Amino acid sequence: MASGTFDSIVMAHRAVREFVERALQEEDVGALLPQIERVWDILPEHFFYEEQAGGFLDQIRLRAPGGEEHVTRLLAEHRRFESEVPELVDAIRRGDADALERLHEFAHQIREHELLEGLLGGLKE
Ligand SMILES: [Fe+2]
Ligand SMILES: [Fe+2]
Repeated sequence: MASGTFDSIVMAHRAVREFVERALQEEDVGALLPQIERVWDILPEHFFYEEQAGGFLDQIRLRAPGGEEHVTRLLAEHRRFESEVPELVDAIRRGDADALERLHEFAHQIREHELLEGLLGGLKE
């Protein structure tokens, strides 16, 4: 695997971590719109990198204890984030009353997701 792929994964994880830290401290959901839009700009490509044949998730599948089970969970989360985040962005733009709660929930979920990947993939960040 090209090192650029791993570099991209590490960079995306860093951007997500910065988003999570900011999101969980912020109570003004409107102020977080640019941040979640930026995260949404990078996530589909990030998921693609992780999922490509011989890529990051395949490494976990082969090397981590219980790898197949973890990868099944991680893939399901990718698909869920892909459907939920655009809805969340729309909810923030509309000013829905529960938008902040949903954004905090997403921040917790993506943090857990990336932490698990970092742990399983042995990423040094
Ligand atoms: Fe992932
Ligand atoms: Fe990731």
